[in-house]
Amino acid sequence: MTFSAELLDWYEHNRRILPWREDPSPYHVWLSEIMLQQTRVEAVREYYLRFIEKLPDIRSLAEAPEDTYLKLWEGLGYYSRVRNLHKAAYVIMEKYGGAMPSSSKELIELPGIGPYTASAIASIAFGEAAPAVDGNLLRVFARLSRYGENIRTPAALRAAVSFYKERMPDRVPAEQGGTENDPGSLYRPGNPFGNFNQALMDIGAMVCLPNSGPFCERCPLASRCRIHNELPGEELSLPAAKERAEKKTELLTVFVIRTGGRTAIRKRPARGLLAGLYEFPNAAGFLDTDEALIWLREHSVEPLRIMRTEDSEHVFTHKIWKMRGYEVDADPFTEEKIPFIMASDEEILGKYSIPSAFGAYLKRI
Ligand code: ADE
Repeated sequence: MTFSAELLDWYEHNRRILPWREDPSPYHVWLSEIMLQQTRVEAVREYYLRFIEKLPDIRSLAEAPEDTYLKLWEGLGYYSRVRNLHKAAYVIMEKYGGAMPSSSKELIELPGIGPYTASAIASIAFGEAAPAVDGNLLRVFARLSRYGENIRTPAALRAAVSFYKERMPDRVPAEQGGTENDPGSLYRPGNPFGNFNQALMDIGAMVCLPNSGPFCERCPLASRCRIHNELPGEELSLPAAKERAEKKTELLTVFVIRTGGRTAIRKRPARGLLAGLYEFPNAAGFLDTDEALIWLREHSVEPLRIMRTEDSEHVFTHKIWKMRGYEVDADPFTEEKIPFIMASDEEILGKYSIPSAFGAYLKRI
């Protein structure tokens, strides 16, 4: 059997059942691919279902107010993804009459869609023969072909794309002219190119894991895998280890300021980290209680009680926040003077998006 035939047979019996695979409309595939860019499949599932329930099509996404789509994204992180989704939905309405363009060439022109995502959408939703090479497919490629160089380079990406492209099914689906009776045909019903990519994604997620296993006995490609056959037991030595840049650490003092049933929040600036989301007021550095009281008075908060709460930490792609928390009961009679949004608990839970970086303090609401 050929590489692709082994892969597609394996996929038929071993694929993961995922909500966006049940009805792979262009919108569903697009949304799932964007959510999956930085987030694990298990975490995406619920977000995906909630998102399509609230915003079931491209038009509703294009017309949704910012707070609605930000709220649906709350907790997923990397909010520029949903901002770009919204922008792209708008472009699709304006330029394509609401129908998602079908080729990877057009898709890559849309905000938030890079080469991987364009190929994933074009292959899964439209049956284009485009390998969708993400980190998982790069790792699988490195092991299959004993690629010993750094895989985080344009050259490695090109090598992986052409490796997979050469191994894609060489017969096209029925709707593109393939027939079941071609001699030696690899014709299969459904979408062989989309399934080829998704089979490799599933192998990357379940079989050819980064740091554990390897589970080569379960891999349909083991007999063609160079590292497995030439250096058995050494499969995890590829891909070559990368050097990690040190992340910068920032210290922050976070205030949960309550006046009876309301809590102070403020909107973050429109640009930069967590742009446009809401946060608990905070100050740079770790403030001790005296410094915290000065900061509060500078912000017209009259504290009746102040209490240290837990410290917490949040790791972003390029930096780490170390946070010290204070819970403050402020004088309700001076609430008007407080220069923050005083939001009810329902508003905080249902209306304003507070990123999970503040999760430890959100818990206190
Ligand atoms: N990761 C990214 N896209 C995926 C998909 N379509 N199926 C499974 N895992 C994925």
